[in-house]
Amino acid sequence: MDACLLHFDDEAASAARLAAATGLEARCIERHRFPDGEIKVRLPLERAPLPQQVVLLRSLAQPNEKLVELLLAAQTARSLGVRALTLVAPYLAYMRQDIAFTPGEAVSQRIVGGFLAGLFDAVLTVDPHLHRVHTLAEAIPLPEERALALSAAPLLADCVVAHRPHAWLVGPDAESEQWVAQAAARHGLRWAVCGKRRHGDRRVEVTLPEGVNFAGAAVVLIDDVASTGHTLAEAARGLHAAGAASVDVAVTHALFAGDALALLRAAGVGRVWSSDSVPHETNAVPLAPLLAQGLAALPRALLS
Ligand code: R5P
Repeated sequence: MDACLLHFDDEAASAARLAAATGLEARCIERHRFPDGEIKVRLPLERAPLPQQVVLLRSLAQPNEKLVELLLAAQTARSLGVRALTLVAPYLAYMRQDIAFTPGEAVSQRIVGGFLAGLFDAVLTVDPHLHRVHTLAEAIPLPEERALALSAAPLLADCVVAHRPHAWLVGPDAESEQWVAQAAARHGLRWAVCGKRRHGDRRVEVTLPEGVNFAGAAVVLIDDVASTGHTLAEAARGLHAAGAASVDVAVTHALFAGDALALLRAAGVGRVWSSDSVPHETNAVPLAPLLAQGLAALPRALLS
């Protein structure tokens, strides 16, 4: 196959899994940070020139520097003759700010989406936070067949039923319905979603769904992202107060900023399962086979 998989040193393990699932050769991009904070990247040319089709793996948790690295790496790849450049970003950052909530606010989704569309011919990601838009191509302006949003929800569901075969699946807010409904449908589980009001980064109010009796239930909270953990912690507290026998958590993207995991434990959360889109101690669901399927679905001009 005349294509290769580029990655950065801190994602060598994910790259090795994706290389094994796709048959692509993994090659590591070198990085150097200058004392003043600037970054140098160097594409791997020792063994051979870059092929014309390149896949670049970069999950975008803690995204700010990574976006600069992508800019440097992608434009260098083009200057070296790469003709088809695909970004695999298992976690895609800046998707939540999709409107200006107050005048003057940057609509980060549109800006970062436009930036990525300018660098790459295709972008593949998993469970991007698309709330007010429905397709990834609306956030990253590329032709639809080149902007692929895959979902880890079925894989999370498989993990959940292996541990809690009769769980109630609960989403902590309305946006989570897309993932909860999908996960529940796969195994015929019962599901519901809570209501949420956010008052600040670490202040959320979660109300349980009306008319559901959680007394004695094994509940698993499902969401796309755990960031500060407050959303899930609030939901877990409510569910325990409603008599749930256990509350566990399954999320696609384990951002877990700061003390988020401890916060969940303090709220009575038992097990926490996540996909490996962001490396974290809770990773239980490998995404490489799903990502490989996504890459196989791209037009052949991009990856053949
Ligand atoms: C937002 O709607 C997302 O789906 C998550 O619920 C949210 O980002 C979680 O954030 P945090 O963990 O900071 O409450």
